Amino acid sequence: MVDLFPIARAGLFAVNPERAHHLTLTALKLGLAGRDLRGDDPALATQVMGLSFGNPLGLAAGFDKDAQVPLAMLRLGLGHVEVGTVTPLPQPGNPRPRIFRLAQDEAVINRFGFNNSGLPVAKARLSGLPRAGGIIGANIGANKDAPDPLSDYEVGLQVLYPHADYFTANISSPNTPGLRDLQARENLEQLLTRLGRVREGFVAGGSSYKPLVLKIAPDLETKALEDIAEVVLASGIDGIIVSNTTIARPDTLHGSHIAEMGGLSGVPLFEPSTEVLRQMRRLTKGKIALIGAGGVHDGVTAYAKIRAGASLVQFYTAMIYHGPALIRHIKDELTELLKADGFATVADAVGADVD
Ligand SMILES: Cc1cc2nc3c(=O)[nH]c(=O)nc-3n(C[C@H](O)[C@H](O)[C@H](O)COP(=O)(O)O)c2cc1C
Repeated sequence: MVDLFPIARAGLFAVNPERAHHLTLTALKLGLAGRDLRGDDPALATQVMGLSFGNPLGLAAGFDKDAQVPLAMLRLGLGHVEVGTVTPLPQPGNPRPRIFRLAQDEAVINRFGFNNSGLPVAKARLSGLPRAGGIIGANIGANKDAPDPLSDYEVGLQVLYPHADYFTANISSPNTPGLRDLQARENLEQLLTRLGRVREGFVAGGSSYKPLVLKIAPDLETKALEDIAEVVLASGIDGIIVSNTTIARPDTLHGSHIAEMGGLSGVPLFEPSTEVLRQMRRLTKGKIALIGAGGVHDGVTAYAKIRAGASLVQFYTAMIYHGPALIRHIKDELTELLKADGFATVADAVGADVD
């Protein structure tokens, strides 16, 4: 694949980041982003939560909120794409500007606030897709003004269950007031019970079992992580994505945007999110799948997430800075790192630094 991104990047960085994102989506819809024609090394193939992934790399939620380009993203060589966050009703999100580049830090601050076209649009798009060529997950959330946020998650799962391969309950966006309170023990128990019941209904009706995962924040104390691990292990939920963006602002950040409200992602999130991942691996002891997200930007950081306990790795912000060729680059580097350490498959390396 010829990498035209360095040229495109100059244009994209000359306009505001939200406009750049829309231009990127348009290019993807037009098929201008290309495809990865080289197959994946067999060492990268992996079975996680009962699903077969050609490689462990995935697009994190928030890039394709309305399921406009999942197949185009899979064609770039990803093993999975997570669309959303989708809320039951369409909502505009927060006023603009609501996304800021911290270029010196290879980071972004966003406070989009779940701008999306709502469940019926996502359902229509996902139901029209051929079910081959990679795994598609659907990330579900609650509307800003939802009287009962938990029921928004139930509705999301109910509507999308037939149309995606796995589902993520996003209870960790910092940009919807009160949302992160769903991570507290009692709320979480209720949420997971209610989502489990929706899934049981589908399975009882003859649908296949599909994995359910939870997406947590990186800003949780040890006690909160222990509670989450306990509740998740008791609930029959299949995995946890560690993590969403952070509300912390590390001292290392540069530039005028660091005071903007919102969630920070990219390179400065790598260390803190990987530490939470390690803690979660210790607490869950390999009994459920962990998906590592936060600051992955090369093979080394992807490999570190895997060694910290991640069976799958997701990224978003690094794509803004490096473009689609990053996917092939990470896969090649990761394959080399696995082989250098004597791991025959990616699954063999999961948790190697913790267990
Ligand atoms: C612009 C932007 C929008 C995002 N929107 C969502 C979202 O709608 N739902 C969600 O679960 N995570 C969302 N995220 C978080 C990412 O999925 C990911 O967890 C986080 O950015 C850390 O990964 P990264 O450092 O590779 O970007 C968003 C991130 C960014 C940068």
